[in-house]
Amino acid sequence: MRLLLSFVLTFCFVHAKHEMYDGHSLFKIKIQDEKQMKYLYSLAEVLDLDVWVLPFPGNDAAVLVSKESNEPFRSELSEYGFEFQIETDNIKRALDLEDTLNEKALRKNHFKSGYRGKIGFDRIYKLSEVDSYLETLAESYPNTVTLVNAGKSFEGRDIKYLKISSTNFQDVRKPIVFVESLLHAREWVTLPPTLWAIEKLVVNVTESDLIDTIDWIILPVANPDGYELTHNEDRFWRKNRATGFVPGDFCVGVDLNRNFDIKWGSGSSSSVCSEIFHGSRPSSEPETVIISRIMEEYRNRIDLFIDLHSYGSMILYGWGSGDLLPNAFSLQQIGLNMAKAIDDMKLIFNENYTVGNAGLVLYPASGTAMDYANRFNIPFSYVYELPGSIFGTGLSGFLIEPELVEHYAKETWEGIKTGARNVRDLLGR
Ligand SMILES: *[C@@H]1O[C@H](CO)[C@@H](O)[C@H](O)[C@H]1NC(C)=O
Ligand SMILES: *[C@@H]1O[C@H](CO)[C@@H](O)[C@H](O)[C@H]1NC(C)=O
Ligand SMILES: [Zn+2]
Repeated sequence: MRLLLSFVLTFCFVHAKHEMYDGHSLFKIKIQDEKQMKYLYSLAEVLDLDVWVLPFPGNDAAVLVSKESNEPFRSELSEYGFEFQIETDNIKRALDLEDTLNEKALRKNHFKSGYRGKIGFDRIYKLSEVDSYLETLAESYPNTVTLVNAGKSFEGRDIKYLKISSTNFQDVRKPIVFVESLLHAREWVTLPPTLWAIEKLVVNVTESDLIDTIDWIILPVANPDGYELTHNEDRFWRKNRATGFVPGDFCVGVDLNRNFDIKWGSGSSSSVCSEIFHGSRPSSEPETVIISRIMEEYRNRIDLFIDLHSYGSMILYGWGSGDLLPNAFSLQQIGLNMAKAIDDMKLIFNENYTVGNAGLVLYPASGTAMDYANRFNIPFSYVYELPGSIFGTGLSGFLIEPELVEHYAKETWEGIKTGARNVRDLLGR
């Protein structure tokens, strides 16, 4: 009886976790023209919907709709002649399944030997595990790895990055490549590639030119407060956890990728409740300041910045407004080379990557980390949008199957490596 009770309690605990998403449906909506695109944007605003894949003509938008908004949304769509289907009628089931699979992977490897903080590619690791991995590496490889504690997040968590170099960052002829993941908390699939980069640059070096001729800055968890929340309470949290904007903190969090001090406020929202809330002023958030400082400190040596996001299988470059940079041609060429390196080993059910200007391919956005790098004339700055998940039913794109973690780590690394070598060879310091 006690056993049964504890089973029931465990079951309830796990399944109580995603209660807030109970009954939320995921809609896939065909967008035929600009008019439909604009209308869907306005509907999203009015009904407070979470837009997962943004609408643009010729594309299918994905929108998460709460139980309450389901009926009104559906009738609006029908009335305005949208073609749509419901991909997932209750997203909570997919969330529960993701938990179950991650827990299974955790149990499977729990008794494997290994030094403290060893990281694997069998599941998505939590912040505390990533932190202790970074610390262990810095202790074990003092000649190549420097752990930098760059400052604290809004809620006071440390933001840590690694400097990886065979010459202790002293050789100014070497370009620096800066890669970051998890600026958006729910984009879990972006973490394994940065951990894999560390593995291949430090632990198991099989291509020594990457470390002999290039210095690396790797920041795996750019938004630790949000990331922690996605593991504990709200799997689909995107922003940081800044508070104090509205009485009672009814809505919290700033979209860090709209908060950078570059064309701030033109392609973002001033509404706290929005997923793309840009904050009270440029660089208002400690996480933004920390990343900005890294770029500023190494502005003369960073030749490539890659900000990992998900999802959509895209490689994008600035400006986020749709305006092109003077080196747009090279940006496109190297973007295509990186995309091809990934496509060459992609999973068969994924599409090839699309390459282009962020504002033209996707949608105009301002205050992004990508654009901030351009402000310092860092010559090659990209966003990767990693593939969406095939998890469970259809488009639940932010979820990740543990069994695919290692593959995404490897294929994304192919792209990063190609970019690093291309940029090194093109610019030749
Ligand atoms: C090191 O990396 C190579 C190439 O990626 C791989 O074949 C090999 O199994 C790895 N070795 C270890 C010990 O992980
Ligand atoms: C996808 O990319 C692969 C590898 O670069 C290429 O061989 C293939 O033709 C591409 N497929 C499409 C449909 O473009
Ligand atoms: Zn993102």
